[in-house]
Amino acid sequence: MTFLNKIVLVTGAGSGIGEAISINFAKLSARLYLIDKNGDGLKKTAEVCEKLSRTKVFTAVADLADDDLVEKVINNAKKEFGRIDVVVNCIGICKRTTILDPNIIQVYDEVMKNNLRSIVRITNCVAPILIESQGCLVNISSVSAVLTSKELIVYCTSKAALNHFSKCVALELAPKGVRVNCILSGPVATNILINAGSSKEDSDAAWKGAKELAPLKQLVKADEVAELAAFLASDKAKGVTGSIYSVDSGYGLIGCQDIRN
Ligand SMILES: NC(=O)c1ccc[n+]([C@@H]2O[C@H](COP(=O)([O-])OP(=O)(O)OC[C@H]3O[C@@H](n4cnc5c(N)ncnc54)[C@H](O)[C@@H]3O)[C@@H](O)[C@H]2O)c1
Repeated sequence: MTFLNKIVLVTGAGSGIGEAISINFAKLSARLYLIDKNGDGLKKTAEVCEKLSRTKVFTAVADLADDDLVEKVINNAKKEFGRIDVVVNCIGICKRTTILDPNIIQVYDEVMKNNLRSIVRITNCVAPILIESQGCLVNISSVSAVLTSKELIVYCTSKAALNHFSKCVALELAPKGVRVNCILSGPVATNILINAGSSKEDSDAAWKGAKELAPLKQLVKADEVAELAAFLASDKAKGVTGSIYSVDSGYGLIGCQDIRN
């Protein structure tokens, strides 16, 4: 598989899954435009990618929850490369709350702004460019979209909405030659919990618990998500749109297991 001469834009490239996805596309010879609000993380990812692809990697430090910045960053990418072939959306945050939390609306607004609204705006800005290139979109969702959780009520809801949003966009853009797919990732030991305010200790304990709970008794590796994203963005998947693919160490099966027990 090669992405030689393809322009790939990755959001949330400065950490975790987005970092792994960017590095994998660099290995596959893509020309990269990487975006994140975390400048330090973004710089590190770009340096690794440049070494691997031996081509300049373009970066933009931007908070993609800002509508105007999204438009600016997408326009810059188009200006720089003349086209965009693939967009992979990895931005996302995780915040805990429950329906009895008096502050749930604040958490709701913050999570939806970062996990859904931003991607609606990105898609809105990039769709005409992808129609020109006959390109594709891959959105990184979560197995939380199909599981239920008391404390992750808002996160789960944002990811369920992202799944359905992706399918609706896939339907609209299919006749125009643009494919849109979603990946439901299971737990990957990234900085997402620390970025949400957890201590390193609590974050490590959460990943340990997740590993024990996983039917395959292993966490998902960011590289596994990256491989699937590359497949969905490649010509090998040219008949695939509106699909939701899981790479979750069997997490999506947990509900059935509970009922049996
Ligand atoms: N880690 C997991 O277990 C897991 C599981 C399922 C799905 N996911 C999803 O995968 C995606 C990546 O998660 P991760 O675990 O790599 O998290 P992470 O926190 O390590 O990385 C997310 C990156 O996105 C960036 N980001 C977040 N909001 C942004 C915004 N508004 N503008 C610009 N950049 C922004 C952050 O700065 C960070 O660098 C998220 O959408 C997450 O919901 C993660």
